[in-house]
Amino acid sequence: MNISIAGTGYVGLVTGVCLSEIGYHVTCYDIDEGKVQHMRDGISPIYEPGLEELMKKNIVEGRLHFTSSANEAYEKKDFIFIAVGTPEKEDGSANLQYVEAVAEAIATHATQDTIVITKSTVPVGTNEHVKSILLEKNKNGVQFQVASNPEFLREGSAVYDTFNGDRIVIGADEEEVALKVEALYKPFNLPIVKTSIRSAEMIKYAANAFLATKISFINEMANICERVGANIDDVSSGIGMDKRIGKEFLRAGIGYGGSCFPKDTKALLQLASEKDYTSPMLQSVIEVNDKQRVVLYSKAVEKVGSLTGKKVAVLGLAFKPNTDDIREGASLLLIRELLKDGAHVTVYDPIAMPHVEKEFGDQLVYAGSSIEAITDANLAFIVTEWSDIKSLPLTAYIEYMREPMIFDGRNCYSIEEAKKYPITYLSIGREPIEKSR
Ligand code: UDX
Repeated sequence: MNISIAGTGYVGLVTGVCLSEIGYHVTCYDIDEGKVQHMRDGISPIYEPGLEELMKKNIVEGRLHFTSSANEAYEKKDFIFIAVGTPEKEDGSANLQYVEAVAEAIATHATQDTIVITKSTVPVGTNEHVKSILLEKNKNGVQFQVASNPEFLREGSAVYDTFNGDRIVIGADEEEVALKVEALYKPFNLPIVKTSIRSAEMIKYAANAFLATKISFINEMANICERVGANIDDVSSGIGMDKRIGKEFLRAGIGYGGSCFPKDTKALLQLASEKDYTSPMLQSVIEVNDKQRVVLYSKAVEKVGSLTGKKVAVLGLAFKPNTDDIREGASLLLIRELLKDGAHVTVYDPIAMPHVEKEFGDQLVYAGSSIEAITDANLAFIVTEWSDIKSLPLTAYIEYMREPMIFDGRNCYSIEEAKKYPITYLSIGREPIEKSR
């Protein structure tokens, strides 16, 4: 079985590597020759636990190949996955230019009958559009069939998720295609859901929208908890024990970031509006998140007034732990506000700092550890709950900061713990701890 994957971002590369680990011959295609060269040497362009080890192993065992030649990628393949990006356009809709370009290249270079499987998150109807491009540009008279196979992996646990996902969704309008894609996935031994193409495309958006809704909901509850004297962590556990609600995705914090939820919620809203439907619910989910992403900054301004001239530490820059991805991270919004106010900002993240440095250059000080970042600081913001950040004892803030004033966006410490120390500790959805007690 010969498989090729177009696009070596999170979805494409992880899919390609995991399919080769199962035993298939996989060719991963990317237009970026430099990136391809690195990947041939077993170097992953993204930080993803476990990925590089599997890459190296399957390259050595001869099942995993990388190419920047469209011809090599698309000729003589049984399955071709489209896994290129669908970035957000200015109006919130998904930009399909990369998907379309891949479809055209496949139509030009394929030399045998092929099933083209779209893994990229695409608006409902896109697979039909892909099929029409394949038919229209078909150069070698081969037969193309299409299937939708959305991806649910999380950054930071993408390899684990691929082998342990809750389900594999296969959208196909012909039974024969669905069966072939199902057979391809059989070795993963995971539950398979077969639907129409349009339903499969919609499942991806609906799943992400639901998860984003859970997060905005719990953040909204956190804001109410703060005002009525309740503790959101207790409220989350209390409601999460109800199986109908479920305990996952109920961690209150500084909103959702990353490459999926912000983009996909807006794309779904846009998709609905193209059909003359406005979704007040999706609108609210996005609105609540926009507000929540700056909640730490608002708390700081409320507490200390002007931040001008203050020395501020920002701990954690990635949009979540175990990734170097900073896309749509709350850290970026916070840093921009702090710099606008004339604060002196020192940042720390175990792996994401180079990406932030590209944007902010010498406007920031880049620390080698949390302790270095908080040393002599007036305020510390906890943005990402990396294990080395959340395991920093509160006594370290007392020892190293000029005045221990902590704004914790991830509720890394319990209120009981925080109360033991002479610190100012403001978190999400819980009572404020004031140093002057
Ligand atoms: C998400 C989906 O989980 C995945 O299925 C889909 O394929 C891609 O989008 P990802 O963006 O990698 O994955 O991260 P995820 O772990 O879902 O977290 C997204 C954001 O929500 C992060 O900013 C995280 O901090 C936040 N989050 C998550 C919360 O604030 N609270 C929670 O309880 C869970």
